Amino acid sequence: MRVLVVGSGGREHALVEALAQSPLAEEIFAAPGNPGMGGLAELVDIPADDLIALRNFARVAGIDLTVVGPEMPLVSGIAEAFWEEGLKVFGPSRAAARIEGSKVFAKEVMRHAGVPAAHSEAFDRQAAALAYLRSLPPDGYPVVVKVDGLAAGKGVMVAGSYEEAEEAVHAAFAGAFGAAGERLIVEEYLTGREASVFALTDGRNILPFVPAQDYKRIYDGDEGPNTGGMGAYSPTMWMDAVTYATILEEIITPTVHQLALIGARYTGLLYAGVMVTPEGPKALEFNCRFGDPETQALLPRMETDLLELMAACAEESLGGREISWSPERAVCVVLASEGYPESSSEGDKILGLDEVAGMAGVRVYHAATRLEEDGSFYTSGGRVLNVVGTGDSIMEARARAYAAVELIDFPGMQYRTDIALEALEMEDL
Ligand code: AMP
Ligand code: GLY
Repeated sequence: MRVLVVGSGGREHALVEALAQSPLAEEIFAAPGNPGMGGLAELVDIPADDLIALRNFARVAGIDLTVVGPEMPLVSGIAEAFWEEGLKVFGPSRAAARIEGSKVFAKEVMRHAGVPAAHSEAFDRQAAALAYLRSLPPDGYPVVVKVDGLAAGKGVMVAGSYEEAEEAVHAAFAGAFGAAGERLIVEEYLTGREASVFALTDGRNILPFVPAQDYKRIYDGDEGPNTGGMGAYSPTMWMDAVTYATILEEIITPTVHQLALIGARYTGLLYAGVMVTPEGPKALEFNCRFGDPETQALLPRMETDLLELMAACAEESLGGREISWSPERAVCVVLASEGYPESSSEGDKILGLDEVAGMAGVRVYHAATRLEEDGSFYTSGGRVLNVVGTGDSIMEARARAYAAVELIDFPGMQYRTDIALEALEMEDL
């Protein structure tokens, strides 16, 4: 098969690596890809949001399957654009991608499907949102204010008081998030432990992944602002089998069925962000694509042929399959550039990549790098590199990841030192 991967981050680098291992893969292209993929994929200079250019390329290059990494092209309708021309895509339709593209829509799906989730109210006018917030008793706080549309992980504000919530609502309606903030939801604040659960689906059959743990805040100890994700590990040994089965049964399965019921075609990966609360697991959000960086801590453990599974999704023949996972542990540490997540710096020379290249149980996925004529890699965005350690224990996987991180350096480099630390403590028990 000739495969096109759309996207340019660490997630796409991990996807390309996994797909390249498939005996079915003849040639892999990545648009636009990144220079870390060199050797695994041929880079095609088309941005991930240029749907027509991507479709033309897929047709001319005889692509058998296009795998879409980021949400933006899915929400814009890349699947329909390809289907119109008879091209196969791993990714949901525009109608189904609204599960990520609109929080109001996602909440409606959850309500109709009976998915356990935080209570929420939707507003498209500031006055109504503020009146609702004023009507809440003081112990009704904190609340969570979420803008409706895509906001790169920045559209969720936890407000501890009416004043903070008011500020968040003002910011959204004043255009701080563009059109994404024209509607918003105010939601009950949930407490518990968070996990990311992915499932492949062809719209009918569902094939779940093992869960992964993401770290969203920028600083150690879950301090500071939310980011796209600063690290991840798998498996989540704190989650028991009953909780996992409940997530599949009460969150993932009814959501897939509800989307099918409303005619929203889904042939791709559904990502549920789940809070395991004292009353059981509740859905926080859905994404219409693989998570970044959870994917980087999951795919190195996958023993089943990913390309075969993705092709089965696209051909609506996923039934009767299983995924086999290596018993190894995987820990992914994100190296971010100065200023991230508010801004990011570019053009800083990255040192140490050669030293870590041969280390046992270490993979480095590129997320925002540029290869210059001097043969060196330079930073080109917020999340720069993903360093993944694998091993027989979290201790070993973590030690390998952080040993590699210690050897890599660029000016202003920031990373969390506590990725999978809690899992290490659980392993000691
Ligand atoms: P979302 O994009 O909806 O997943 O929100 C981003 C992050 O905000 C989540 O990963 C949670 O850490 C936090 N969050 C979202 N919704 C809630 C909620 N209802 N209660 C508590 N935390 C939340
Ligand atoms: N790691 C969170 C996300 O991919 O949305």
